[in-house]
Amino acid sequence: MDKFVIKGPSKVKGTVDISGSKNASLPILAASILFDESVEINNLPKVKDIDTMLLLIQSLGFKIKKNKKKNSVKIIKTKNIHTFAPYSLVKTMRAGILVLGPLVTKFKKAKTSLPGGCLIGARPINYHLNALEKLGMVYKIEKGYVHASSHSNLKGAKIIFPKISVGATENAILASVLASGKTILKNCAIEPEIKHDLTNFLNKAGAKVTWTGKRTVEIIGVKSLKKISYTVMGDRIECGTFCVVATISQGNLKIKGFDAKLIKTELNLLKRVGAKIKTYKNLISIIGPKKIKNIKLIETKEYDGFPTDLQAQFMSLLCKANGKSIISESIFENRFMHVAELRRLGAKITIKNNKANIFGNTNFQGAELMSSDLRASVALVLASIVANGTSVINRIYHLDRGYESIEKKLSKIGVDIKRVS
Ligand code: UD1
Repeated sequence: MDKFVIKGPSKVKGTVDISGSKNASLPILAASILFDESVEINNLPKVKDIDTMLLLIQSLGFKIKKNKKKNSVKIIKTKNIHTFAPYSLVKTMRAGILVLGPLVTKFKKAKTSLPGGCLIGARPINYHLNALEKLGMVYKIEKGYVHASSHSNLKGAKIIFPKISVGATENAILASVLASGKTILKNCAIEPEIKHDLTNFLNKAGAKVTWTGKRTVEIIGVKSLKKISYTVMGDRIECGTFCVVATISQGNLKIKGFDAKLIKTELNLLKRVGAKIKTYKNLISIIGPKKIKNIKLIETKEYDGFPTDLQAQFMSLLCKANGKSIISESIFENRFMHVAELRRLGAKITIKNNKANIFGNTNFQGAELMSSDLRASVALVLASIVANGTSVINRIYHLDRGYESIEKKLSKIGVDIKRVS
C-alpha cells in the first residue's frame, strides 16, 4: 500500500492548477446513461472515483473512449445495455447510487447495490428512494440490492426534501429530465456542482431545468437529449485545500482554474485568520500570515455555508492559530477521524458531541500517521507540511480517490513529499 513521506516544515510558493471537479463529474457521468447519442466530457480529474464511475458505466454496456491528453472521455450507448450496478463497484464509492435515477427513467428498471455506510457516518439513501418513488419508481430492497422498476415513464411530481441532500437532489433531477410533465423539487442542495454544472450540462443537451427559487428547481421532462461535449468546472474542494496550504505555511500561491466567487465563505474565513487574498478571473492569489488568528466558531453547513469537505483541512490550520477555535460538524455524525491522528503530531483538540475545541499554538512534530477517509487524509498532509521533521502517512489510497497528483502539485510548490510504494 502506498504511503507519503513528508519532510517539514516548508513554505509553499508558486502556481497550482486546479483539476476538474470530482463531485461535478460524477453526476454528469451518471447522466450519460440518459442519452442515445454520444456524450463527451472534458476536464475530468484523474482520480480513482472517476475511474470507478467509468467502470460502472462501462459495466452497464456503454462504450468508453478515453482521450488522456485532453482528460476527456466519450461515452457511447451500445445495443447491449444492462441495468445492474454491482456491489464490487458501488461499495468503494457512494456516488454509484447516482445511476439509479437515470437507469429507471431511461430503461424502466435497475438493480443497484446499496452503498452501505462509511467511516464518516451511516449515509442512508432514503431521500433518494423516496424522491424516485414519488416520480413513479417502485422498489424493494433484497440482499443488499435495490430492485427498482417503473411500469411506464416516470411522471413529474412535486417533491419537498425533508433535509438537504446533494446526492438525492442530483438523483431526482436526473430522473426528472426524461419523466413526463413537470417536476418541482423543493429544499434542494444548491452546491455549484449541481446548480451550476449539472444544470448547465443538462440544459445544453436539451433538458429543461430551471431554478425558480434559491432551493427550488422546476424540470419539464423531454423525450430525449442531444449529443453534447461539455467541460466540467474546477474542483471547489481542491481549490479550498490549496488556499489552506498557502495560509498554514506562510506560503505565496497563485491558484488557477477556479472561480473565487464560488468559495466566498471559505476565503472570508481565511482572510479572518490573516491571509492576504486577491481574486481575479479564474485566479486566486493568496499569501499566508506570519501569525494565524483563531476563529471562535466555524460550523459546517450546506452550500453556501462552510463545506464539511473542508472541515478537516481548517482544523489543521486552526491548530496553528494563536488561541482557541471551535469547529462544529453538522452534516455528518462521525467526521472527526483526523483528530486522533492530528494529536499524534502534537495537536491539542478535545471533542464533545459534534464540536471540536482546538487549542491552537501547536508546533507540529513529524510522526507516523494513518489515513481514514479522503478529506481527513489531506488534513494530515497539510499538518505534515508545517511539522518539524518527517511524517509518514499510510493508506493514501483514500487521497487518490479525490486529489489528482497531489504529491506532484505539492512538490512543484516546494513541499518535500515522496510517494513510497
Ligand atoms: C456529497 C458529496 C460529499 C459531501 C456531501 C455533503 C459527492 C459525490 N459527494 O455527498 O463530498 O461531503 O455531499 O456536502 O458529491 N442523508 C440521509 N439520507 C439520504 C441522503 C443523505 O440521511 O438519503 C444524510 C447524510 O447521511 C448526511 C446528509 O444527509 O448526513 C448530507 O448528505 P448528502 O448531501 O446526501 O451527501 P452525499 O451526496 O452523500
